[in-house]
Amino acid sequence: MKPVKVGICGLGTVGGGTFNVLKRNAAEIARRAGRGIEVVQIATRSPKPEYDTQGVALTNDIFALVNNPEIDIIVELIGGYTLALELVLKAIDNGKHVVTANKALIAVHGNEIFARAQAKGVMVAFEASVAGGIPVIKAIREGLAANRINWVAGIINGTGNFILSEMREKGRAFDDVLAEAQALGYAEADPTFDVEGIDAAHKLTILASIAFGIPLQFDKAFTEGITQLTTADVNYAEQLGYRIKHLGVARRTEDGIELRVHPTLIPEERLIANVNGVMNAVMVNGDAVGNTLYYGAGAGQEPTASAVVADLVDVVRTMTSDAGNRVPHLAFQADSLSDQPILPIAACECAYYLRIQAKDHPGVLAQVAKILSERGINIESIMQKEVEEQDGLVPMILLTHEVTEQKMDDAITALQQLDDVSGAVVRIRVEHLI
Ligand code: HSE
Repeated sequence: MKPVKVGICGLGTVGGGTFNVLKRNAAEIARRAGRGIEVVQIATRSPKPEYDTQGVALTNDIFALVNNPEIDIIVELIGGYTLALELVLKAIDNGKHVVTANKALIAVHGNEIFARAQAKGVMVAFEASVAGGIPVIKAIREGLAANRINWVAGIINGTGNFILSEMREKGRAFDDVLAEAQALGYAEADPTFDVEGIDAAHKLTILASIAFGIPLQFDKAFTEGITQLTTADVNYAEQLGYRIKHLGVARRTEDGIELRVHPTLIPEERLIANVNGVMNAVMVNGDAVGNTLYYGAGAGQEPTASAVVADLVDVVRTMTSDAGNRVPHLAFQADSLSDQPILPIAACECAYYLRIQAKDHPGVLAQVAKILSERGINIESIMQKEVEEQDGLVPMILLTHEVTEQKMDDAITALQQLDDVSGAVVRIRVEHLI
């Protein structure tokens, strides 16, 4: 059988990795796919002498690839929303299959892209868009197809996890660790996407859609980053037996879907609490299978290329199959997506860690307990530290049972109005993941 012809748009970290893996493992990949996969053209803005591109046509015009009649599959690795969207839609219109690692593109424009691909009978594969080399999309979409998924919780931003791990283990400063993640090629072009949780929210949006069979709704995800976390809270959490991780949580409830990304206390005995550095991990709870955990490199050149190439093999295997009988883009048939609402954060339910900086007076604890009990908030544990020398305040740390965010907002407002409470109350959500 003739080899399938591929064009790669972008020869950066992932593009270069994809090219190298395809070349190095060509024979093994052909044995899996049933035919060869040949890169015939690459679009790159600058020459990259580090890659042996002899025999491959190079261009700086990405649209030359989608207009090249020889090419069957376009691999989009340029990132961003605008040009990438134009490129992918044009490729689909020209009858080409698409493989992409672009989570922002899929999370924000995926509904439009999939509808267009469906109409044209082409495939858009996006395994590399979530958790790099971990085949978590395949696991949920195919491996767990028997299950009603209850929740998904994941460490899905390697840069953020690296920063939190280094802060906890080595006491390093935030900016110093971020600079290292950038130098290692893990951070996004705009690192605020990593530290403000936007990158994780893109990935969670995709996971939620394939877990619950709902359209992609990135604009409804609640997103809180890690920039406000302090070493003090990391240490207090540890004294209580928890680790703080930046977690994406998508949970099915009777009222709708919770879709939220935020720093989270996780009991230290959970495997996922021990996922450190740039590694990613995703837990999925299904009604039949129970808890499952997927772990691996969530970023990096060849780990991400591993997912891109696996998608290429998948596309090649099913290119000749009836378009209506392929694995649906969002796991559920396009006309069977559900309209369950995404819940606003105020309606989500969580346990909470609170840190209150209080004056060292008799009766403060009683006032705090009264505010919480009046709102039906049950305290699970409480820890009061010694008076801090610099300001004479006493850090009071509480863990609560589950309560709606709305009630907690209300309680925090009341706590901050107490004369004996100084400054803002720190709130970090807690997940037990059982
Ligand atoms: N910036 C991302 C991360 C890269 O740190 O996880 C992979 O999507």
